Amino acid sequence: MSSTIVAHSSQPDSLEQKIAALIARMSLADKIGQMCQVNPATDDPVAEFGDRLRAGRIGSVINLVDVRAINELQRIAVKESPQGIPLLIGRDVIHGFATVLPIPLGQAATWNPALVREASGAVARETAAAGVNWTFAPMIDICRDARWGRIAESFGEDPYLTSQLGVAMVRGFQGDDLSAPGSIAACVKHFVGYGASEGGRDYAATNIPENELRNAYLPPFKAALDAGAASLMTSFGDMDGVPATASDYLLRDILRDEWGFDGLVVSDWNAVEQLAAHGFTANRRESALAAARAGVDMEMTSDTYAEHLESLVAAGEISIELVDAAVANILRMKFRLGLFDRPCTDGTGVEPTARQRLLDLSREMATQSVVLLKNESTCLPLDAGEVRTLAVIGPLADAPQEQLGTWVFDGDAARSITPLAALRDISGGRIDVRHHRALVTSRSRDCAEFGDAAEVARDADAIVVFLGEESILSGEAHSRANIDLPGAQAELVHALAECGKPLIGVVLAGRPLTLGNVIDELDALLYAWHPGTMSGPAIADLLFGLASPSGRLPVTFPLDVGQIPIYYNHKNTGRPPESGTIVHIDDIDAGAPQTSFGMTSFYLDSGFRPRWPFGFGLGYTTFEYSDLDVCVRDAAIDISATLENTGRVRATEVAQLYVRDPVASVTRPVRELKGFQRVPLDPGESARIAFSLPTDDLAFHGRSGQRVLEAGEFHLWLGGSSEDGLNASFRLEG
Ligand code: BGC
Repeated sequence: MSSTIVAHSSQPDSLEQKIAALIARMSLADKIGQMCQVNPATDDPVAEFGDRLRAGRIGSVINLVDVRAINELQRIAVKESPQGIPLLIGRDVIHGFATVLPIPLGQAATWNPALVREASGAVARETAAAGVNWTFAPMIDICRDARWGRIAESFGEDPYLTSQLGVAMVRGFQGDDLSAPGSIAACVKHFVGYGASEGGRDYAATNIPENELRNAYLPPFKAALDAGAASLMTSFGDMDGVPATASDYLLRDILRDEWGFDGLVVSDWNAVEQLAAHGFTANRRESALAAARAGVDMEMTSDTYAEHLESLVAAGEISIELVDAAVANILRMKFRLGLFDRPCTDGTGVEPTARQRLLDLSREMATQSVVLLKNESTCLPLDAGEVRTLAVIGPLADAPQEQLGTWVFDGDAARSITPLAALRDISGGRIDVRHHRALVTSRSRDCAEFGDAAEVARDADAIVVFLGEESILSGEAHSRANIDLPGAQAELVHALAECGKPLIGVVLAGRPLTLGNVIDELDALLYAWHPGTMSGPAIADLLFGLASPSGRLPVTFPLDVGQIPIYYNHKNTGRPPESGTIVHIDDIDAGAPQTSFGMTSFYLDSGFRPRWPFGFGLGYTTFEYSDLDVCVRDAAIDISATLENTGRVRATEVAQLYVRDPVASVTRPVRELKGFQRVPLDPGESARIAFSLPTDDLAFHGRSGQRVLEAGEFHLWLGGSSEDGLNASFRLEG
């Protein structure tokens, strides 16, 4: 921790000198004020906070999106508070503001960082127009447990994909210039390990060994901070016995000392006062002490800093240097945002062209996020020339709010175009689109309407059934122990299957669901996550083949909830299972001897393979890889192959590069993603795809915690999923 605020540049008005000059003028109360973030409890925030703000006792307001109120608070802060310091206005803009993009897990399924960056930039402009200058995104927690409701907010299970998309989102929000109008500050969260909450129960303890922490959970944070993320939020979790919000190891040793982060660290909501609930502190005073000492610069909402920091400093338990360093981090972000020059927002809103562009991006992203998981007898795409009557069934076919997903405080459901509306529109009246909801919600158990729904389905040329979870079933504090389709949806599928018509499932959900009780009855399955405002047009285009599905799974789909945690980049074990050698519970002979099953790592009742692996996804064409070439140079390995579209429609393949380090000083995963590219190809077209893998990307954190690059043999795969690919080996010389 730096003990004094010093100017790092000789220029007279360098950022650090401005910060130091300002801090030199501030009283202790002014400084503590900056460290407090408040949440309006009334609908008149100006009346509620005016006096406290005039006294300089607020650094940030969360959850305010009324531009007039925000501007008035900024005016009070700048004109009437002792130091004239503008406010940070924070809001959870997780996947869109009024216009909603797919949930982050859906965004991850696009494997398209450029699109994520562009769309996040458009979202930032819509957000900034409301006066908000700080979003609490991206969430870059690695998540390997679909029970955890917050998997919806994550980019999935892989450190590399999460890093790429986290960086893209940060760059999108912050733009090339954080101080430019339309840019907002990103906040990477939740540092660190929250995604490993035990049993997928939200807020539960996390126990991540140091080596796993460094190799799997920390890399996305390092990447996003290196890309310039302005702030970071601590995790609610108890990490190995120390709540992250009070962990000087995480917040000082790693974040500040090892990584040199000079941005703002904010706690999560009430997480400082909750240190006492964890059993880590005895009372609010001790909580304030523990969080401030660990390096939490700003307290979100629980106000223990306001109550106790002054007396903690007076008692010598917290040094003024520590307070100054925290305030410097906060002011640094305010200066970087340009708030001292431009605290207020002009209030003219978003231009119609920008609004249309955002809708277009939302549609494009939704289209790219949908994953085709099954397509028996090329049931899809539907032929608009042949389908005369289409049955559209299910509780999520026409549910404007439910298609938006979790974390849509500002999402405007009135802008949603539902699948039903889009299917009616796309068919232009040529197809008779008949709708039956069958169930009131995704959770309903009442099957009374199934007879009528089946009647609609029986008369149709094809049935599209919209299944899944409503928005409220995923997200924070919305974990599930059973991740089958809720309610009577499986029974609905059984009833529709009996109609004898092509049955296409479209799942809208915030997590991977286990679909064992319906998958065999569906002829085709599109997995759409919660696709946002433009769900309808995206899904309709895919159903009718106006676009070929190009989404790929960012997370492994388990066969059964009991397989969790199941993820592609696991360790090999000393007894890896092999297909063909494992035994199923139904095939065990009576009186079988104890060691008769090969003694490898699998479940008697659900084997070791998932339902669908990470990286998997079908399209309306086929791709072939050939002629893999690998060339080891000094600082990089050049890898190339030919990719051909061997089918009949234009489509995009996501070419994925994986490596394995088979012998290392700490055991390494069986595969690790190291690169990917979206490659659009016309039918019959082929292209040479090339990756230049920096040798340094083969390094990992060894036993001492340091990154090491170890010589020896490596395996690589280039193909269309984590279970596929052309394979080669290469050597790194020492
Ligand atoms: C969540 C954070 C969020 C914060 C502010 C918390 O409950 O864990 O991710 O940013 O609330 O709304």
